[in-house]
Amino acid sequence: MAHDSFAHLGEALKDSEKLGYDEAWSMPTAYYTDPAVLALERERLFGREWVCIGRADELPNPGDYLTFQLCDEPVVVIRGDDNKIRVLSNVCRHRGAIIAEGSGHTGRLVCPYHHWSYDRSGQLAAAPKMTTHPTFDAKSCRLPEFACEEWHGFIFTNLSDNPPALGPRLQGLDALIKNYHMEQMTTRYVIEEVWPSNWKSFIENFMEAYHLSPLHKTTLAPMNPTKLCSHIPAGEAYFAYNAGFSPDLPRSYKGHPDLTDAEAMNCVMMAVPPGLVSGCSGDYSSFICVQPESVDKVRVRMGLMFYGPTWEQKDVDFAVDLFHQYMAEDKVVLANMVRGLKSRHYSRGPLAPADFEGPALDFYRYYSRRMSDALAGAAG
Ligand code: FES
Ligand SMILES: [Fe+2]
Repeated sequence: MAHDSFAHLGEALKDSEKLGYDEAWSMPTAYYTDPAVLALERERLFGREWVCIGRADELPNPGDYLTFQLCDEPVVVIRGDDNKIRVLSNVCRHRGAIIAEGSGHTGRLVCPYHHWSYDRSGQLAAAPKMTTHPTFDAKSCRLPEFACEEWHGFIFTNLSDNPPALGPRLQGLDALIKNYHMEQMTTRYVIEEVWPSNWKSFIENFMEAYHLSPLHKTTLAPMNPTKLCSHIPAGEAYFAYNAGFSPDLPRSYKGHPDLTDAEAMNCVMMAVPPGLVSGCSGDYSSFICVQPESVDKVRVRMGLMFYGPTWEQKDVDFAVDLFHQYMAEDKVVLANMVRGLKSRHYSRGPLAPADFEGPALDFYRYYSRRMSDALAGAAG
């Protein structure tokens, strides 16, 4: 990519740190379309930051596992016999085959290639016919383990060695969402898809309220219209907004008794970048784990979790159907934006006021804090 577009992007990011919510502008083309930018993002963001993989309640019992691809690292997340969730390398220590696929339950992780097997903590348990090798020590052979932290029922991992803890960086969010008790919700629906979108466009879209009423006129807007949304001051490692529920639309399931009336009528839309967005509300909540596959393809692991044991399947199905309806509307626009953002006539546009597009600016600022040095270095 041309050095001048790196420099242009650098200037736009600097602007975002300086300008207020009422005078901010969106990002230039390179932010969304340049593979060299994505390579830096993989290194600086997905390779170093805490990244959400899924929900702890997806793995209720020892031996339950799910698999995930984080940058170039295939990982398997498994609950051990000690009840601890571990994030392990999903690459066989014999000759590098991928061990587990999808999700499920197992006594041991067995590599399909030559049937080496690993216990639920990642220790090699058996390696057929490997008893005579003079320099191979089976006892010290185990799957490498990545850092893992649970936060409000979400599982996060981090590819760097000994990263600073995630929890303290999200304290501002804790206060906003603690009464919802997401950690007590049950994940009853998960789907993984690849969407034709830049990963940052996807997050911006989830995190701005401006489009709710126009784009989701008949799906989401009757419940969460744009006019009931308000900006939440961002933290160092998160950003968020409130999406108020319309009082005209009664909701049949109550959330946790800790919720205040105001909280019960609100959804906290939050991002823990680079890999998690979530809509936290009392009766049920949503989450999406976001992984870039290329500049215009994003892998999304999306789920809904429900508070309390009384949710009937038909009501869960209704919520899932609604989710798909409005996400389908988003998908059309996001796919079209891949074309729009590449146009020679695309240029930076003015952002709507903070209550509506403030989180987009918060995202640029987060990004700038972590990426500006790298981009400046690459620009030479
Ligand atoms: S590569 Fe896994 S057992 Fe050979
Ligand atoms: Fe949307």
